[in-house]
Amino acid sequence: MMKKTEVNDVAPSSVAHVVGQQGVVEQVKVALDAAFEDTRRFDHAMLVGPPGMGKSMTANVIAQEMAADFHEVLGQSIANVGDLNGLLLQASDKSVVHIDEAHELNRKLQTALYLATDKRRIFISGSKAVQSIPIADFTLLLSTTDEYSLLQPLRDRMRLVLHFDFYSSEDLATLLHHRSKALGWSVDEGLLPHIARRSKGTPRLALRLLQACRRVCRSEGEDTLTCDHLHRACNLERIDELGLGPTEQAYLRILSDGPTRLNVIASSLGLPPKTISAVTEPFLIRAGLTSKDDQSRRQLTSRGYEHLSESSP
Ligand SMILES: Nc1ncnc2c1ncn2[C@@H]1O[C@H](COP(=O)(O)OP(=O)(O)O)[C@@H](O)[C@H]1O
Ligand SMILES: [Mg+2]
Repeated sequence: MMKKTEVNDVAPSSVAHVVGQQGVVEQVKVALDAAFEDTRRFDHAMLVGPPGMGKSMTANVIAQEMAADFHEVLGQSIANVGDLNGLLLQASDKSVVHIDEAHELNRKLQTALYLATDKRRIFISGSKAVQSIPIADFTLLLSTTDEYSLLQPLRDRMRLVLHFDFYSSEDLATLLHHRSKALGWSVDEGLLPHIARRSKGTPRLALRLLQACRRVCRSEGEDTLTCDHLHRACNLERIDELGLGPTEQAYLRILSDGPTRLNVIASSLGLPPKTISAVTEPFLIRAGLTSKDDQSRRQLTSRGYEHLSESSP
């Protein structure tokens, strides 16, 4: 077997290995039990939450628990109904089909998708008539950062809605402990809670920081990861004490001039407004650094001002 040196070499493969996210785990366990009892496929499900919270990992765990084959594609890589049909035709009964970033599917594709799951057929319009071809009875999983950007009829067909929320620092420290143990990495006492606190409640960031620590540690020919490695890794990646990166730091600086509209922030950061509201803002609001005023303008809280003055030279 190849030596495991990457945090993603050892991702959870069963629901028992999923850390935290109790609500989602409970829903998945009940749905798995129900599917086993009735010897049928897993219910269609929508997985909702910010990036890096474990949606893809959970989709994978569901497929492994069901011992089902797993087909995964990104919404943006399905360009037309032909691509979608190709995906649906690949699936067999009980397969798990995961469409990640499902909000990237346009209306036409979302419509074709819910018609296909309803009728268990795909429709191909030829030169004379519309031809229909049967498809298998597979499980459809849709992941998205924003459930309301999916069409209502498509959402209605998802039996389960799994809402992923930010992780506590304790859960992140546990997750890091499992991962570093599985990789056989030696870690200084006290380091993992520090990484957890700088990870914005997000497993993907926690694991990235762990990997960055490891990189610094190994680059110096050392074997045990320490807080010193963490500080150097954070400096290299320009991550501050709260785990905020350059984009979030810039976001806070823009607000320091007073309440600001989303469009204005988006154009100064050079990012789409949707990305900012679905990706950048949830953690800042949750951490109590920013809020929205009654005209939906973004503003700093006193805590936000404090953080900005502490972190900027
Ligand atoms: N609850 C969890 N327990 C263990 N590992 C997790 C958990 N949630 C996420 N991860 C890990 O964090 C990383 C990011 O998760 P991922 O499923 O890709 O997030 P998403 O699809 O929501 O963007 C992956 O390496 C995944 O294995
Ligand atoms: Mg994903």
